[in-house]
Amino acid sequence: MSKIVIIGAQWGDEGKGKIVDRLAPDMDAVVRFQGGHNAGHTVSAGGRTYKLKLIPSGILHKNKICLVGNGVVLDPREFCGEMDALSAEGLDLSPRRLKISRKCHLILPYHQALDQAREASKAGARIGTTGRGIGPCYEDKAARVGIRACDLEDFDLLRRKITETLKEKNTLLTSLYGQKNLDPETLIAELKPVAARLAPYLTDVSEELSAVESRGGSILFEGAQGAHLDIDHGTYPYVTSSSTVAGNAAAGAGIAPSRLHRVIGIAKAYTTRVGSGAFPTELTGETGKYIQEKGAEVGTVTGRKRRCGWLDAVILRETVRLCGVNDFALTKLDVLSGLPEVKICTEYVYRGRRINYPPQAENGPAEVEPVYESLPGWQEDLSAARAFSDLPEAARNFVARVETLTDVPVSMISVGANREQTVMRRSVPHPAPSAV
Ligand code: GDP
Ligand code: IMO
Ligand code: MG
Repeated sequence: MSKIVIIGAQWGDEGKGKIVDRLAPDMDAVVRFQGGHNAGHTVSAGGRTYKLKLIPSGILHKNKICLVGNGVVLDPREFCGEMDALSAEGLDLSPRRLKISRKCHLILPYHQALDQAREASKAGARIGTTGRGIGPCYEDKAARVGIRACDLEDFDLLRRKITETLKEKNTLLTSLYGQKNLDPETLIAELKPVAARLAPYLTDVSEELSAVESRGGSILFEGAQGAHLDIDHGTYPYVTSSSTVAGNAAAGAGIAPSRLHRVIGIAKAYTTRVGSGAFPTELTGETGKYIQEKGAEVGTVTGRKRRCGWLDAVILRETVRLCGVNDFALTKLDVLSGLPEVKICTEYVYRGRRINYPPQAENGPAEVEPVYESLPGWQEDLSAARAFSDLPEAARNFVARVETLTDVPVSMISVGANREQTVMRRSVPHPAPSAV
């Protein structure tokens, strides 16, 4: 009976999908609570690789209930496409176990058109969004003009809302951005078959979670993006438009925060970032290229190369503070094999002073100089390690250093993309404080 929150501890793509898939057998339900199809969670299991964007990474496991919470922004056509791709792989996507909150806000074509037009107009100052309409959809939610999944059940209301909202969107699209006018009737007609297909999936996710709880079931809350892409706490304005910190698991799924038990931060053994924004430990030379290639660091959603750099304990500490991380899953440790030394940023120098946490001023994170600690590297291939003792001493020391610098235990170590390539250092549903 655990309620465990999984969050990205860096700037996304830490391997959340892999860890959720690894933990799912011990859980009864997996729920997404924020973000949309800007997320790309890759899971490799049984010789196959699955790309998940909106559907929770528990879907690979039979009989697990997979829920899309109210905090998610859902592109209905994208969701149908993802269901098609996964059912072609033989997975069960029936409404018996896949469910969507009626309160989810819908991403519609004008959101994507605005996202892309805005980015295109910014030239040098682009955020580097995924262009999926995430920001404009959350804007409409906050402006109280959003279209929600429940509106698909009331076409008169849907028509009124879309017609009204398109007056403003079309003015922006045509007058400001020189784009095409969008016709409300065409959009409504396109939504009809999608609405019919999604209707059986719509539910009250909060109520579903409460039913799992009352049966004594365990729930995993699957975060998307990472704590440093959070709309409030991230490297603003180079962030996503949702709250990615652990606290939002409660609001974004419809459960009381007092019901949550544990927060697992997923941290890569190095750092990556896609899109613009400060990245103090970025490696632009040969070592960065080595990590990028060895780690196959290419964005799942947009195919962009991910920027790579050393592990940054300053941002991890901030994540611990913001999210109350109980333990870390340290992923992609195998990628660091073969380097003569590995570095960890322990502090920043900011305007002549040493600081332990990222500065809050907008340009602060871009101004800092990282202070590094160098550790001996290791040459061994880690991909077959299944116990902590299978790792070479230098890799074990690296893990121990992460624990000391963040004051948080590392309970899982991932040494390859496949489900079984994981070192579990303590049992998941009933964690014991000491590491093996
Ligand atoms: P997410 O968005 O946090 O779920 O992460 P992504 O799936 O976007 O990116 C992580 C990538 O690394 C995926 O392609 C995973 O298959 C892969 N991966 C996950 N864990 C490991 C690991 O320990 N080692 C290696 N080499 N690859 C991993
Ligand atoms: P997962 O869940 C990495 C980044 C984009 C861009 C910024 C804003 O796979 O970890 P948006 O389209 O959200 O408005 O883009 O956020 N971004 C991600 N980077 N992983 C993700 O998701 C991301 N989702 C958004 O690259 O810099
Ligand atoms: Mg990803």
